[in-house]
Amino acid sequence: MAIKNICCIGAGYVGGPTMAVIAQKCPDINITVVDINEARIIAWNDDDLTKLPVFEPGLDSIVRETRGKNLFFSTDVDAAIDRAEMIFISVNTPTKTYGKGKGMAADLKYIELCARQIAKISKNDKIVVEKSTLPVRTASTIKSILDNTGNNVKYQILSNPEFLAEGTAVEDLLQPDRVLIGGDTTIEGERAVAELVDIYSNWVPKEKILTTNVWSSELSKLTANAFLAQRVSSINAMSVICERTGADVYEVAKAIGMDSRIGSKFLKPSVGFGGSCFQKDILNLVYIAKSYGLDEVANYWEGVVEMNNYQKNRFSDKIITTMYNTVSGKKITFFGWAFKKDTNDTRESPAIQVADNLLNEQAQISVFDPKVDQDQVYKDLNLLNTRDPETNLKLVKVLESPYEAIIGSHAVAILTEWEEFRHYDWNKIYESMLKPAFVFDGRGIVDVNNLKSIGFSVYKIGAGNPVN
Ligand code: UDX
Ligand code: UDX
Ligand code: ADP
Repeated sequence: MAIKNICCIGAGYVGGPTMAVIAQKCPDINITVVDINEARIIAWNDDDLTKLPVFEPGLDSIVRETRGKNLFFSTDVDAAIDRAEMIFISVNTPTKTYGKGKGMAADLKYIELCARQIAKISKNDKIVVEKSTLPVRTASTIKSILDNTGNNVKYQILSNPEFLAEGTAVEDLLQPDRVLIGGDTTIEGERAVAELVDIYSNWVPKEKILTTNVWSSELSKLTANAFLAQRVSSINAMSVICERTGADVYEVAKAIGMDSRIGSKFLKPSVGFGGSCFQKDILNLVYIAKSYGLDEVANYWEGVVEMNNYQKNRFSDKIITTMYNTVSGKKITFFGWAFKKDTNDTRESPAIQVADNLLNEQAQISVFDPKVDQDQVYKDLNLLNTRDPETNLKLVKVLESPYEAIIGSHAVAILTEWEEFRHYDWNKIYESMLKPAFVFDGRGIVDVNNLKSIGFSVYKIGAGNPVN
């Protein structure tokens, strides 16, 4: 049976781009991406492609090419499930904010709702594919719901974790390092795996499509994110030592990265990692380890998150101490709010924690980010519940131009590594700031000597050269 109709539940950062690329590469397959969030579906269907809910370089042209042909966005979840032979689950799995495992375990309520809905609607056999990051053994939960609440329909559950990184989603989908598909080792399971392998084979070389058992696939996703996050925390730990000793973390990173056993990627020091995956997945891993009584394993991985929190707080502390131990009433301009460049996503962005710390010290913050809008900034801060929304509104301004944001500021803090920040007219920025004018570079993107020659006092993370 060749797959003719795919349904993807969840039109977010994973579901949207992934289905757009599958649609482009498999013109014979009809794909419907569904979501309960009507505003999101309306945005995916907007004629103006700058309004797509997810900003990803290159995504707009793929959507233009496929939308209305074999790629559809809809709120009619039931119809899409009914029609599909293969259903991807791409819903959010945030960290639990209540009950057992609060603050650590993944909240699977959205996954469970999907499974129940699939069971209710399905009249013929389906292959259900887990795309969202899930704790190991979630497939058994999904299977149990499907088998016990359904209409005697046969299901195969596959795990096909998504490894795309935001900002490079399209590139990562078109040329993945590998595609991982986990399935049952029964004949039916292997048949289902083969169906999904066939889909990816349309553009991914066979040797890059890896098949494993379901549990290995689920755990590999958590492991990959834990290892990547660990590298960032490791280099960030070194950035602190560099600042104290006069070593330069960029030189250290280059020196160790040339060791092929270590490799050169993911060694950029930063104000901390963010994004919807790293922290969530590590906490998940910690929770799983604890649930098996493996406290040493849990503590080892928890250290990666602790280091990240330290790095975020250290950055705001540095701003405060450098500015004569008080930022009360001082205006600090944030360049960047997204958790990394080339995305409009702000989930777990270090900017949020840094801003919150500075607001606790009564600073005034003006924010400029090329892709994040005003509402999102307030939403992120209000979600912390540190102060009332009116105070956030009063203390924080979001502007549409960096040159406007900067007027009358005591300091610029760089929170995201947007390329355009490197090319700004820093002379002009200097002129419109109060003196001494400080730059705090949390992403290591500025040319320190150039800024110093303009007159700025510069702190660059891990650079080992104290502010003068
Ligand atoms: C190490 C460094 O590799 C080398 O660059 C430095 O100059 C000296 O220290 P060495 O101790 O000789 O070299 O061996 P290495 O291959 O790094 O292995 C160290 C230990 O780690 C060994 O016990 C090895 O069995 C273990 N190891 C290594 C693993 O358990 N798993 C691995 O994947 C790699
Ligand atoms: C990550 C994984 O890379 C991806 O495979 C998985 O599917 C989802 O989680 P993403 O969160 O989109 O992707 O971005 P990533 O590029 O991994 O960056 C995560 C965070 O680490 C960002 O805040 C980034 O700025 C930071 N980072 C990354 C560093 O601080 N230094 C680095 O060297 C690399
Ligand atoms: P990710 O980064 O994993 O893609 P997002 O939060 O961007 O996460 O996207 C997940 C999407 O899944 C959201 O748009 C949400 O509305 C949608 N969703 C969650 N539960 C359901 C459900 N039961 N049915 C349909 N859509 C759902």
